[in-house]
Amino acid sequence: MILANALFGAWLLSAAPTAMADTCQGPIDHPGEAFSYVQPINTTILSPYGHSPASLPSPNMTGNGGWELALLKAKQFVNTLTVEEKSWMATGQPGPCVGNVLPIPRLNFSGLCLQNGPQCVQQGDYSSVFVSSVSAAASWDRQLLYDRARALAEEHKAKGSHVILGPVGGPLGRSPYNSRTWEGFAADPYLTGVCMEETINGIQDAGVQANAKHLIANEQETQRNPTFAPDANETTYIQDSVSSNIDDRTLHEIYMWPFANAVRAKVASAMCAYNRLNGSHSCQNSYLLNHILKGELGFQGYVMSDWGATHSGVASIDSGMDMTMPGGFTLYGAFWTDGSYFGGNLTRAIQNGTIEMSRLDDMIMRIMTPYFWLGQEKNFPSVDASVGPLNYDSPPDTWLYDWKFTGQSNRDVRSDHNDMIREHGAASTVLLKNERNALPLRKPGNIVIAGNDAGPPMQGPSLRADFEYGVLAGSIGSGSCRFSHLSTPLEAINARARKDGSLVQSFLNNTLLTTTELTWPLWNPQQPDVCLVFLKSFTGEGEDRTSLELDWDGNAVAEAVASHCNNTVIITNSGGANVMPFADHPNVTAILAQHYAGEETGNAIVDVLYGDVNPSAKLPYVIAYNESDYNAPLTTAVYSNGTYDWQSWFDEGLEVGYRYFDAHNISVRYEFGFGLSYTTFNLKDLKPKCSAPSKLTALPAKRPTEPGGNPALWETVYTLEAEVSNIGDVDGFAVPQLYVEFPSSTPTGTPPSQLRGFDKVWLPAGKKRTVTFELMRRDVSHWDVTAQDWRIPVGSFTFKAGFSSRDFRAKYDVTLIKA
Ligand code: NOJ
Repeated sequence: MILANALFGAWLLSAAPTAMADTCQGPIDHPGEAFSYVQPINTTILSPYGHSPASLPSPNMTGNGGWELALLKAKQFVNTLTVEEKSWMATGQPGPCVGNVLPIPRLNFSGLCLQNGPQCVQQGDYSSVFVSSVSAAASWDRQLLYDRARALAEEHKAKGSHVILGPVGGPLGRSPYNSRTWEGFAADPYLTGVCMEETINGIQDAGVQANAKHLIANEQETQRNPTFAPDANETTYIQDSVSSNIDDRTLHEIYMWPFANAVRAKVASAMCAYNRLNGSHSCQNSYLLNHILKGELGFQGYVMSDWGATHSGVASIDSGMDMTMPGGFTLYGAFWTDGSYFGGNLTRAIQNGTIEMSRLDDMIMRIMTPYFWLGQEKNFPSVDASVGPLNYDSPPDTWLYDWKFTGQSNRDVRSDHNDMIREHGAASTVLLKNERNALPLRKPGNIVIAGNDAGPPMQGPSLRADFEYGVLAGSIGSGSCRFSHLSTPLEAINARARKDGSLVQSFLNNTLLTTTELTWPLWNPQQPDVCLVFLKSFTGEGEDRTSLELDWDGNAVAEAVASHCNNTVIITNSGGANVMPFADHPNVTAILAQHYAGEETGNAIVDVLYGDVNPSAKLPYVIAYNESDYNAPLTTAVYSNGTYDWQSWFDEGLEVGYRYFDAHNISVRYEFGFGLSYTTFNLKDLKPKCSAPSKLTALPAKRPTEPGGNPALWETVYTLEAEVSNIGDVDGFAVPQLYVEFPSSTPTGTPPSQLRGFDKVWLPAGKKRTVTFELMRRDVSHWDVTAQDWRIPVGSFTFKAGFSSRDFRAKYDVTLIKA
């Protein structure tokens, strides 16, 4: 039913109306474009799970949102290509980079070099290893995220990479057992969305193309790819890849959300994932690629496959995929031989009319427009010859093209980035516990360093495997890095202790530390001033985690040391959540989660331990009491052998991460957004900054789609402010956070608290300041599956501001009524 007047009368004010300054931007909605209010919301007409209806044809790019000029250049370029050249531009080739597009020398086009990854130049010698993405997310610091990405991209560019295969918007961390959460950001779409946007801006401002991956719901490694009979080609599966089955609302509000931010940031490309979505392969899911990504979100760039995620030619192309990787003629087994789908077959499909030339032209324009937009045709550094031999995706003996290398090889691209990495490492270290004033350290006379995570890795500079000895500062797989320098905790603490004249004893063998026959205590004199215990958790691409405990008997090491040392400080280097039973031990006085902190991990932890840096990072996920407290277990096995039997039902809906724990009132050890400081902050007086819009429609005005979707979704509709003060005696950064509790009229399944704003502000001791939270239309809307649009619900909103998802210091209620 269509009601005549669809306008909301006003953001009706809270019980105690506050005098509001009228100096802010008013409502952005176009008053003349009121929308019909469709009700009731009838979810039963749709299947509880999303489906993937065909959405054809693939939308052509328009270049709108700032790429118009670049598109003209791309069109001119495409006009000069033969059909074969066009086909091969959409098809990767073995070569020096992890993904390669062939040069076309007659057009002075030197090809495209696509390189991993999110933390470093994966194939880079003389390059830096930055803090991992999960560490960067834990900083809750937009500037840090931008700076890190920009510096990373500068190094990539200097090595000749046109495209960085990152950032990672999924896995989001639906389950803590996912082993790639360290390559992504946070188990929350809002925080991940901000991280995606800052990272993409940083990368692309440096002139390198970013790639938002993995689209979408790539939430487990297990069965991420089909299994094949040993002698089969890709048309005969034993079992197909896992299907992430997600309802429409959850897809929009959780998993697509960060990708919408990515598109809004004008990301050059997106990588479709290995897994299926709602029964259809991500790379040939026309609903996902044509309808949502290119249609609803107005994505202007190109969709490339994850390596080997292409399972068809014509179907994938019609469904919106623009580039297949690694592409043609690769010499791997069945797993990798997707090349034949594109290349020559694409040319034939054009010649026999199965695919229209206009579709192929759009594919190439999508590939070339970001190239021209970023000025990559002008003086772009050549590919450094040294990357080729380090390429294990297509090693030199697989190359068919005679790649020519110019310019210096083994370029040192590190600049002075290690200073930044050290700062970032400290800024992303989360202080979880600090009792009896354990930290910061004050010139301790007698220090014990314990745990197998404190020293140097014993297996070389490239972290390819789980190893017993050595600090974990990165991990394996396509996100792995080659360290050209690594500051270890052992080395950094020793250096600091020497300055202070402290005694240092180290015990790095976990087996010895947990062996009962040993005569404890091992140290001398008998009671050290502090025991610093370094423990780790290895997580990496290809194999999900099976436990959230610390590796190498880490929990037992923590207990053993704590039982002999009354001031035990635990430091973890882990890819994601760990359970921490030792946190209850009275002698465990402090705990720090440092994640994978890159090449300056040792110096960075010293900066925090000794108080040169006041910790300010916050958990980007939940640390539960027990492993069994987490929901959404991965699908680790199926008990039948049907081709399509691997199904992962995302039936927790929106209850991902803290949303689940809150909805079910489950106590947690450390909640999302939590992290201590050496000072104390307060927050009060949460209130609107200015008058609320007087005419706010339930649905957004329909504006022409821009990158990111309907621009009305990104406009501020309401601004709140609060006062934050540093009431302790140490200067530091506070991270005020804003969560929204939606009105009861919102469809069921809406979590009690959802992050919708945060800031990171420097506050000298004793000072206070005002922070503002700007809420965009999307932030106060839910995805209405019937209207197929974002709807602001009527009723009472509660805005909750504080220092974590469970530590609210001030609330503000706003009631929306229908006019
Ligand atoms: C597979 C990974 O999923 C992806 O993240 C990576 O970029 C490609 N391989 C290329 O190495």
